[in-house]
Amino acid sequence: MSATKLAIFISGRGSNMQSILDACESDTFPAEVVLVVSDTPGAEGLAKAEKAGIAHATIERSNYDDKQDFEDALDRVVRESGAEMICLAGFMRVLGAHFVNKWDNKILNIHPSLLPSFRGLHTHQQALDAGVRFSGCTVHIVRPALDDGPIVVQAVVPVNEGDTADSLSARILHYEHVLYPEAIRLLCTGEAKVVGDKVDIAKGRWQVTGLVNPAPFI
Ligand code: GRF
Repeated sequence: MSATKLAIFISGRGSNMQSILDACESDTFPAEVVLVVSDTPGAEGLAKAEKAGIAHATIERSNYDDKQDFEDALDRVVRESGAEMICLAGFMRVLGAHFVNKWDNKILNIHPSLLPSFRGLHTHQQALDAGVRFSGCTVHIVRPALDDGPIVVQAVVPVNEGDTADSLSARILHYEHVLYPEAIRLLCTGEAKVVGDKVDIAKGRWQVTGLVNPAPFI
């Protein structure tokens, strides 16, 4: 099976991007990263992409008159790279329906909560404010609404006594780094398939879509 070509969109640190790059190092991983795109000049993740020898580009919203022009530029650079799937990894923009529909079921996102709870910004503070005992992270197919779309995989992570948004975020991030490559693997091997508003998992593979670790990671 040939490796699925991925483009990764980032805005900052790029630790999820790095976890995908690391997974792609394995000969048995069914994907390869052909492009990293940042909307933020000098994003930390760009240096990581450079170090890994991955083609990268910066496309700034402020250089375009409107959102559609900006998204058309994103679309062009991704198509030129030959990428077949787009992974949003800390990309701090909501892509419009025009773009999302062009890449129907081909855009993935990772969000640091158990969706559909706590969409949007300040996710960890939202979880703490709600007093939940468990939070987690979700990889989902992107639909035009914010943090919405069919769920591929989730990990459940405990909220500990005395947690702050930072400590919870750090604990969840460890699981994100396991979860994102797993979601990509499932989709690229065909073990996971989008069917309507849900993701169907191949018979007998259901257990890999939920990762539960009740012991505090940190
Ligand atoms: C992650 O927590 C991700 O879930 C969220 O933004 C953060 C990005 O971190 N969407 P990084 O840039 O991957 O390190």
